[in-house]
Amino acid sequence: MDWGMKNRLARIIRPKTGRTLMFAVDHGYFMGPTSGLENLDETVEPLLPYADSLMLTRGALRYYVTAETDVPIILRVSGGTSILNKQILHEGITVSMEEAIRLNVSAVAFSIMVGADYERDTLLGFAKVVDQAERYGIPALAVTAVGKDIDRDAKYLSLASRIAAEMGARIVKTYFCQEFEKVVRSCPVPIVIAGGKKIPEKDALQMAYNAVQSGASGVDMGRNIFQADAPVAMVQAVRSIVQEDATANTAFEMYNDLK
Ligand code: 5RP
Repeated sequence: MDWGMKNRLARIIRPKTGRTLMFAVDHGYFMGPTSGLENLDETVEPLLPYADSLMLTRGALRYYVTAETDVPIILRVSGGTSILNKQILHEGITVSMEEAIRLNVSAVAFSIMVGADYERDTLLGFAKVVDQAERYGIPALAVTAVGKDIDRDAKYLSLASRIAAEMGARIVKTYFCQEFEKVVRSCPVPIVIAGGKKIPEKDALQMAYNAVQSGASGVDMGRNIFQADAPVAMVQAVRSIVQEDATANTAFEMYNDLK
């Protein structure tokens, strides 16, 4: 692995802990101004100090995030369908590697739809992104298990995550599930879990705790942070679990104190 790739990965997954709190606000590429992201700059600004990295689209980066930020960026480079067509699980490349370099990002993120009608297209698209990204020492993060009509169990998530890694992903983002340690064990690269739809803060913290205890390298959490009753308190509570090994109960107490 060349120096550049190592350096970009180290900016995302902190070497001291082997963990990362990725703050995800890339939802707009298919959800538009989803609740909490209407004024993305106002949402992101107070939360950034607690994030190890920020996942978003090129438009969000350009229009809502100051270039002076020192938080490493994970650029969403796939898309092509909106929430109005959520039954169509299909994404293609929407950003060139030249643009990713121009934006000085630390990684690129692409969704693969394993098990969906267009799985082949998305896997081939991901392979192309990996080829281009690796040429410049940029890690590719595979977003797996998107879409509602799949059973997010260890069998399926192990399949999707391992396919992603075998295709060349340097990081895999998937969802937490029972027996998650099986998913981690069968994937040769770091896995982070998406938070998914908003759930009670206590449950989201328990999920983050269970995930890192099962071997996840952290979280790529969005809605459960920016849609929380107190987002700044929530991101700090999640950080205490991911980077300081706090228990879910301690983190929830922190959340309530900070709230
Ligand atoms: C949306 C994404 C998000 O990055 C991912 O789902 C994490 O966000 P959340 O925790 O809100 O699910 O890929 O398609």
